[in-house]
Amino acid sequence: MNSIDYSQKIPNNVNLSEDRRLQRALESWQPHYLDWWKEMGPEGTTTHDVYLRTAISADSQGWAHFDYVKMPDYRWGIFLATPEQDRKIAFGAHKGEAVWQDVPGEYRSTLRRLITIQGDTEPASVEQQRHLGATCPSLYDLRNLFQVNVEEGRHLWAMVYLLHAHFGRDGREEAEEMLARHSGDADKPRLLGAFNEETTDWLSFFMFTFITDRDGKYQLAALAESGFDPLARTCRFMLTEEAHHLFVGESGVARIIERTCQIMKENKTEDVKTFGVIPLDMLQRYLNFHFSVTNDLYGAEVSTNAANSYNMGLKGRFEESKIADDHQLDSTAYPVMHLVNGQFKMVDVPALNSLNERLRQDWVVDVQAGVSRWNRVFKKYGIDFELTLPHNAFHRAIGHFSDIQVTPSGDVISNDEWNRRCHEWLPTIEDRAYIQSLMGAPVTEPGKFANWIAPPPRGINNQPVDFAYVRFA
Ligand SMILES: [Fe+2]
Ligand SMILES: [Fe+2]
Repeated sequence: MNSIDYSQKIPNNVNLSEDRRLQRALESWQPHYLDWWKEMGPEGTTTHDVYLRTAISADSQGWAHFDYVKMPDYRWGIFLATPEQDRKIAFGAHKGEAVWQDVPGEYRSTLRRLITIQGDTEPASVEQQRHLGATCPSLYDLRNLFQVNVEEGRHLWAMVYLLHAHFGRDGREEAEEMLARHSGDADKPRLLGAFNEETTDWLSFFMFTFITDRDGKYQLAALAESGFDPLARTCRFMLTEEAHHLFVGESGVARIIERTCQIMKENKTEDVKTFGVIPLDMLQRYLNFHFSVTNDLYGAEVSTNAANSYNMGLKGRFEESKIADDHQLDSTAYPVMHLVNGQFKMVDVPALNSLNERLRQDWVVDVQAGVSRWNRVFKKYGIDFELTLPHNAFHRAIGHFSDIQVTPSGDVISNDEWNRRCHEWLPTIEDRAYIQSLMGAPVTEPGKFANWIAPPPRGINNQPVDFAYVRFA
């Protein structure tokens, strides 16, 4: 049992009270965090009672406790997964050595950068989603939004703990910066592009949690392999929370598809706008958008930074220990897509340099599996339609393909043709306005759902679908 001490100001399972300096430092960051939450977190929600899950222990059993909580009173804390006895570094130049409990001096700045970049995404998504409560399609969905938000807040705590505990003054400064940068801010934006996009509507929210939180899953999984044990344990615990975010996204889009299919079938029409639900071609454009901007989060396909982090034993591959190779990759190759004489071809590059691309490809397989599950809904209704993922080179801003224009099916086209036709592939101003028009007043009566989305098959934590998941003061 790796239980969490809730008697402390900051709930934790890291014996925080035994390290007075660290405890004081984090306790002085805590009010800044709460100010940030009130200012930049979900808008106008401080008095709502929300049926939330809180971690009570960090082992696989019983870590989830459900109860009504006012979000500013949520017990954000520091929870690390149970340590693995005699854990060894699984990859890179230090393979086979005991994992580090302290930061190796020569890797300090690389490690701090990895933690800072991961940490920055967590509050960013809370900021991106802060207005969504005003247009919620149901109490069930509102509660899920808030659950995702409080857990992203906790993920920030996880990274800030590492910065404070292991990086001294630099770490404390980075922790302050986490609250000073804001999503979409002209002067101090968040570090990564996709986290400066606005999440203006619930379709975007579901696509984001399905696709972009899944990038989070793969980044965390790669960091969960780290030879720096506190980071590995932190990320392992975060992954258990992340699974719910992916569920919220996938099931949200599935319920939108379900509702559109019902309308199409009942009325024998594809022209569903008059019925106030979301047309299938629009869903495809949103999918194209979120998939392509999230592709860019993996960085350049060929990267010496990624090679260095791997060599140093700081960031591994997805499920590193399940891969059958030497885990050092000095002389192995990995196929990476290139454009050669106008044709897309897989070209072998040194495996060590292609780790970003490998992680991205692992993620694509996972995204595709979810899209295939969505496509079963069309089948169920006998509707001849499939959502598809766009080509890897479509709408890229980073990497090999950032300066060419490519259609979703993979044809290289001129800038002129792109400008003429991109409205076919990416959400248009009209699409966004239509989606906004559907998402007007919030639906807050228990058991009621907005017209554009089907109810879920079951509620949260065995509660009925018409449970009062949020109570308003
Ligand atoms: Fe997160
Ligand atoms: Fe997440």
